[in-house]
Amino acid sequence: AEYTLIKTRIEGNVGVVELHRPKALNALCTDLFRELNDALARFDQDKNIGAVVLTGSGTRAFAAGADIKEMKDKDFVTNYTKGFLNLWTEQIDRMRKPIIAAVNGYALGGGCELAMMCDIIYAGEKAVFGQPEINLGIIPGAGGTQRLVHAIGKAKAMEMVLTGNAKLTAKEAEAAGLVARIFPIESLVEEAIKIAQEIASKSQPSVQMAKEAVNAAFEMPLSSGLRFERRLFQALFATKDQKEGMAAFAEKRKPNFTHE
Ligand code: HXC
Repeated sequence: AEYTLIKTRIEGNVGVVELHRPKALNALCTDLFRELNDALARFDQDKNIGAVVLTGSGTRAFAAGADIKEMKDKDFVTNYTKGFLNLWTEQIDRMRKPIIAAVNGYALGGGCELAMMCDIIYAGEKAVFGQPEINLGIIPGAGGTQRLVHAIGKAKAMEMVLTGNAKLTAKEAEAAGLVARIFPIESLVEEAIKIAQEIASKSQPSVQMAKEAVNAAFEMPLSSGLRFERRLFQALFATKDQKEGMAAFAEKRKPNFTHE
């Protein structure tokens, strides 16, 4: 497909998407999200791809937020009837394959929220996370008031959301649990792709169920989550990959997963 606001490529079994609107620090406009959703849908359907890496082109920004210039004249009724921001979540919510966000530079507002919609966040040393929406007379609208609380706790999330100016550096984001790991700026994307490739080398049904089970921890009471996990665990014994994985262990060799 032809894209103008993103760039895509495939490395091994990993689909890579770069947000590519450098002059606007990758501000997230409608057309960019259309392209991103299209690319993600293609990767999710591609049998040879087991995981996706999402990053910003260059190192200044992952994304500096929703496009403020595009948003400024919107009104409530149109937002409501046309479902403003639905476009942001409809494809990402549907992804079966893990998405890793590789955040170099700014992840602000909708950019921070987009990173948090991903399954793992890795940060470059100069990454900055923030929710500055309050400075514009609005609030986060794509999960910032919810996912941030789960990731870093109420006190820090409240401070970020209410002041708009309390930002997290990469180190702070890692210490707070928002970010899984920090890498040097130049090697961040490469390292994220390496880990995505490692994930892609596992049995896809088990990877996808693992993602579903972890996500269930945010949706369900513990007893339901545990029951859901147990059922998925039991079900995986219906896959060839479970037989292969365990046979390979017993035979002291590497498993050859066929994703079935
Ligand atoms: C539109 C943006 C933008 C944005 C930056 N630009 N962020 N355009 N929407 N969110 C544009 C600038 O207008 C400018 O364009 C160019 O990118 C470079 O930005 P500068 O401000 O000149 O760069 P710098 O001085 O380095 O400052 C970087 C910055 C600042 C601190 C990141 O750009 C900034 O504060 N941006 C806005 C951050 C923000 O408020 N995000 C939340 C948005 S609301 P020109 O044409 O002048 O060169 C949001 C709502 C989410 O995300 C709710 C639901 C999803």
